[in-house]
Amino acid sequence: MQHPLKGCAVYAGSFDPITFGHLNLINRAARLFNNVVIGVGENPKKNYLFDLEKRVAMVEAQLGGLENVRVQPFHGLLISFAEEVGAQVIVRGLRASTDFDYEFQMGLVNMDLRSEIETLFLLSSPEHIFISSSTVKEIAYFGGELSRYVPEDVAAALKEAFPHPGT
Ligand code: PNS
Repeated sequence: MQHPLKGCAVYAGSFDPITFGHLNLINRAARLFNNVVIGVGENPKKNYLFDLEKRVAMVEAQLGGLENVRVQPFHGLLISFAEEVGAQVIVRGLRASTDFDYEFQMGLVNMDLRSEIETLFLLSSPEHIFISSSTVKEIAYFGGELSRYVPEDVAAALKEAFPHPGT
């Protein structure tokens, strides 16, 4: 398959857990770039439901036939990780204007730190626009239906983390 953009892109996140929204962006980034590295971040300031190993394993399990995509955990700054793996571009997904302030600030800081690495925003596809790892965890916490938002094995891991006897 011909990729319109040569080189390597990083798509990073916490993936706590991975959702269909993330998977949509991963597939689209994999169509655009020769190589995509998915960076699974470990930030000591964040409280994760799943540990780093589990988050990496859940992402890896969803990659199926994507031969130009690999998964790598990272600590520290996203821009340093992008540099370390030789990426020219950081791909970020934008859902709504609520994402914009955070993304704008992070993009500008990253530009200031390493101006040669570009941030590229891909719009979330409309059917995934309201999905986030946080809302998925909240649905799981209250025992709601998860199949529209996350793959089957992720739903199983969420149900194990938030058991609801009888469901
Ligand atoms: O979209 P997410 O899940 O919040 O992803 C967050 C991630 C991993 C991209 C973010 O936590 C991160 O990059 N952390 C590293 C610190 C960093 O580089 N911050 C931006 C510059 S201040």
